[in-house]
Order: sequence, then structure tokens, then C-alpha cells
Amino acid sequence: MKKIKMGMIGGGIGAFIGDAHRRASRICNDFELVGGVFDADFEKSKQFAKNEGISLDRCYKSVDDLIKAESAFPSDKRMEVVSIVTPNALHHPFAKSLLSAGFHLVCEKPMTITVGEAEELEKLVAEKKLTFALTHTYTGYPMIRQMRDLISKGLLGTIQRIDAQYYQGWINSIIHGTGSRITGVWRLDPKHAGASSCMGDIGVHAFNLIEYTTGLEVKEVLSDLNPVKEDIQLDLDGTVLLRFSKNLKGVIRASQVCGGEENNLTIAVYGSKASLKWAQENPNYLYMLSDTEPTKIFKPAHGFNDQLAESSHTMPSGHPEGIYEALANIYKGTAKSIRGEKFTPGEFPTVHDGVRGMKFIHAVVDSNKGGNIWVKV
Ligand SMILES: NC(=O)c1ccc[n+]([C@@H]2O[C@H](COP(=O)([O-])OP(=O)(O)OC[C@H]3O[C@@H](n4cnc5c(N)ncnc54)[C@H](O)[C@@H]3O)[C@@H](O)[C@H]2O)c1
Repeated sequence: MKKIKMGMIGGGIGAFIGDAHRRASRICNDFELVGGVFDADFEKSKQFAKNEGISLDRCYKSVDDLIKAESAFPSDKRMEVVSIVTPNALHHPFAKSLLSAGFHLVCEKPMTITVGEAEELEKLVAEKKLTFALTHTYTGYPMIRQMRDLISKGLLGTIQRIDAQYYQGWINSIIHGTGSRITGVWRLDPKHAGASSCMGDIGVHAFNLIEYTTGLEVKEVLSDLNPVKEDIQLDLDGTVLLRFSKNLKGVIRASQVCGGEENNLTIAVYGSKASLKWAQENPNYLYMLSDTEPTKIFKPAHGFNDQLAESSHTMPSGHPEGIYEALANIYKGTAKSIRGEKFTPGEFPTVHDGVRGMKFIHAVVDSNKGGNIWVKV
């Protein structure tokens, strides 16, 4: 099948997630990277294009230049989709320009800086009838898709508690001056990151996984955030109480300063009949607990899984797949949507998930600022 011509904004030499996007787009085998604006510095962007074997003619100085040049190409040469993998504050301006010019988008989270910007993009996507995939990467894991299916079939009974945790430690050494990492430190600066560091960067993944796996909406939050040091402007750690309904509550605990923690994202959904637990650092095992039966373990590549979970693992059972394949599954769903093929809801997070994420981040920040009050999401 003909590859979808893809562009990329950001993701140049030394960037973190852009490289994962390129690998994922190659794993799913539906995309061909043809050009982009890979770095704010044009010389570095050109060096990146040379290293990747991308024509310098399609390495652009700015997003406006990209739009102008690509729009002038005949449809069989033109870029159809663009991946935005820049720091947060650039997502909205670039997404708005690219959508207005008719490009499908893959965009990193958090989708924007404000809720208003997120709603504006949602409206634009609907008006233009374009595909917009928001890369909440963890929704691409087969066992997260299996969790969503088991919950949707009511196997847990009535859900009684939801608990998600996302602990990292990499910022600990940065704030105490003992680390050498320099990439990604823009997350501490509101100008680039937005209203939140910890909750905007990783708490929002936990929030998204909760709404993705359960199909429920968080209605209200009460947060207690912690910048950890006087000279830090944004939260680096926090706890968020969640209310779904009168009888269903939950919690998100997130931190970027839990020294020694790597990418400790977990989700547990407890029901009246059974419960499900998943941990990102061990992603091919989904545990089903019950009061009356021994613990069951679901694993990928077995016929007992739901069709979407099953098709999200490409190797035979016992061959572990991980984060690149999870992101590739999101790219796969995006490709189906761009081509107008049938896809399953949940194959890729949408612009609406982006709006929900922004509402969560702002409700959490407002709750903390207001003296730990309940705020609607
Ligand atoms: N889905 C996930 O699991 C996940 C993981 C990591 C990061 N992210 C998100 O991805 C985004 C990027 O994060 P990162 O860690 O890769 O950041 P990074 O700092 O490693 O990379 C950012 C890239 O954007 C480029 N850039 C900056 N300004 C630009 C401009 N004006 N034009 C073109 N390129 C420009 C930089 O040169 C760099 O190449 C963030 O929004 C982050 O929240 C998501």
C-alpha cells in the first residue's frame, strides 16, 4: 500500500520523543517521513535532515514555509500528515496553522497551553474533517486495550475505586544540581510548559489512562501540588483526589522527584466483582484479582484477548513488545483514519482527549491555587 507522506515539527538531533515517533511510524509501516522543521535552529535542522537522508529541499526554516511549499505540490507529492513533537507551548500555534491548511495531525500531549486553545483545535478538526491523533502513548499497549475491553464488558461489576500513579525521578537531580541532563528541562519553565510541570507532563497521562480504560469521566478534582523548592515555579509533585460520582472516587499521585524511580506508571481499577492492575514497566502482564478466585494474568498474542488488543501485538506470544510498538499502534490507527478505512474507537486518542487533558490540568492547578478546593473538570 502507498505510504502516507509525513512531516515532522521538532524531533531534531538530541530530541527525545521525535525519535520514538519516527521509529513507531516505521514499525507500523504506513508512513514515509519526507520533510519538516526539525529544530528551531535551521542549521541544526538541515544537519538532522542530512543525517536522515531527507531532501534538503523539504527541510524548512519555519512551519509557514512548510505549509506554503507543501501546499503547492501536486497531491501525490504533498505531505498529508504532520507530527508535532515540540515543547508544549508550540503545539497550538503550529496545529492551528497546519489544520487550517488542511494537514492531518499527530500531536504530542499536553495538547495546548489553555483550555480555550484546545477547544479551538477541536472545533477546527471537526470543521475541516481531518484526522487528529494525540499521542497518549500508553493507550497503544495491548494490555491497556484489553483492560478497556474487560471493563466495558462489565466483568469488574460496579467500579468502586480507581487509582493511578505516575512516579519519575529524573528532575530530582536537576533541582539539586547533581544531574547532567540538559534536554527536556524546559518542562520547569511556564513559558514552554504551561501551567504545570508534573501534572501537565505525566499526571495527564494517568488521567487519560483512567478515562480511556474505564470510559468514565472525572467530574471534579481536589489537588495538593508541590514545587518542592522555593525557586521552582511549577509543581514537581502532587496528589489529586478524583470524584466520578457520589459513590465512585479515585486518586492520581504523580511526581518527577521520586529519586530512583524511572517510569513508574500504574493503574488499578477495583470493582465489586473483580479488579484489574497494570504497570507500564511490566506492560505485557495485566492482572485480574478477585476475592473468590486465584489471580488471572492476561498476556498479549492469545486468542482470549479482545480483537483490538490482539491486533496490537505483532509477534507470537512470549516475544515482548514495548513502547515503540505501543506508539506504532497509535500510528496504525491514525493511518486507517487518514485513508478513510474502518477503525475501532480507541485506536488512537483524539482531539477530544486533548480537551479533556487540558481541562484536567487547569482544574488541578486551580484547585491547588484556590486552597485545595474541589473544581469541576
Ligand atoms: N507521549 C509521551 O509519552 C511523551 C514523552 C515525552 C515527551 N512528550 C511530549 O513531547 C513534546 C516534546 O518533548 P521532548 O521531551 O521530545 O522535548 P525535547 O526538548 O527533547 O525536543 C523538542 C524538539 O523540538 C524542537 N523545537 C523547539 N522549538 C522549535 C521550533 N520553533 N520549530 C521546530 N522545532 C522546534 C527542539 O529543537 C527539539 O528538537 C512535549 O510536548 C512533551 O510533553 C510526550
